[in-house]
Amino acid sequence: MAEKVLEVKELTAGYGDVEILKGITLHVYEGEVVAIFGSNGSGKSTFLKVVAGLLKEWGGSVRFFGETLTHLAPQERVKRGLALASEGRRLFLGMSVEENLIMGSWTKRSRVKENLDRVYSYFPELKGKRKDLAGDLSGGQQQMLSIGRALMSEPKLLMIDELSLGLAPAVVDRLAETLLSIREREKISMLIVEQEVSLALEVSNRAYVFDLGEVVDEGYSEELLERDSIRRTYLSVL
Ligand SMILES: Nc1ncnc2c1ncn2[C@@H]1O[C@H](COP(=O)(O)OP(=O)(O)OP(=O)(O)O)[C@@H](O)[C@H]1O
Ligand SMILES: [Mg+2]
Repeated sequence: MAEKVLEVKELTAGYGDVEILKGITLHVYEGEVVAIFGSNGSGKSTFLKVVAGLLKEWGGSVRFFGETLTHLAPQERVKRGLALASEGRRLFLGMSVEENLIMGSWTKRSRVKENLDRVYSYFPELKGKRKDLAGDLSGGQQQMLSIGRALMSEPKLLMIDELSLGLAPAVVDRLAETLLSIREREKISMLIVEQEVSLALEVSNRAYVFDLGEVVDEGYSEELLERDSIRRTYLSVL
C-alpha cells in the first residue's frame, strides 16, 4: 500500500465568521496526481490555502506524511515539502525570471544551481528568458515560472491552483504534458485545482468534486469521465 502524502479529515475553515469549508475529507497517495474541480466559489482555493498554512483551519485535521500540520507556519510546511503555485501566480513582476526562481529555493540554498538546471530542463523557454522581467512574460510563461518556482523547493507535494486559467489551449496542453513528465521522472505527488474539467480528469489519477464547501463526488478520473452525472454537469455532454 502506498503511503499517504496528504490526509485531510473533516476540515472546516472560513473567513470572518462565515464558514466556507464544511468538513472536507480527502487524501493523496505518494506518486498520485489528484484533481479538485467544482463550481466557482465552492472553496477550492480556500482549501489549498488552508493546506499551505496561509489560512487558519477551524476544525478537523491536515496531515502531511502522518504529521499534523495545524501549528506549522507556511515556511515550515514548505521545508517539509509542500509547495503551492497560487491562483494569480503571485510572481515578483519587477524581478527577473531567474531571481523569481531563486526566491523559490530558500529551503534548498545549497542546491540552487542543480534546481535551476532542473527547472530549465522542464521549461526551456524560461532559460532563454532568464534575465527578462517576470512582468514581461506571456501568461503561459508566467504559469511556467510559477510552477518552476514551486519546484525549486523540491516539493513532495506540488499544489497548483487554476492550471489553465487564461491560457491558450496549446499552452495548456504543453503544461499538462510537462507536469506528467515531471511526475514520471520524480517521485512527486500533485494536487491540482482546475476549472476545465476535461483537463482535470485527463491529467489526474483521481479527482474530488467540490460544491459549497463540501466534497460531493469523488473517484478515479477514468470513471468520472464516463459518469453521466459528471458529463452532464461539468462536461456539457447532453
Ligand atoms: N479573502 C476572502 N474573504 C472573504 N471571503 C472570501 C475570501 N476569499 C474567498 N472568499 C469566499 O469564499 C468562498 C470560496 O472561495 P474560493 O476562492 O475558495 O472558491 P473557488 O472554488 O476557488 O472559486 P473559483 O473557481 O472562482 O476560483 C466564496 O464564496 C468567496 O467569495
Ligand atoms: Mg479559486
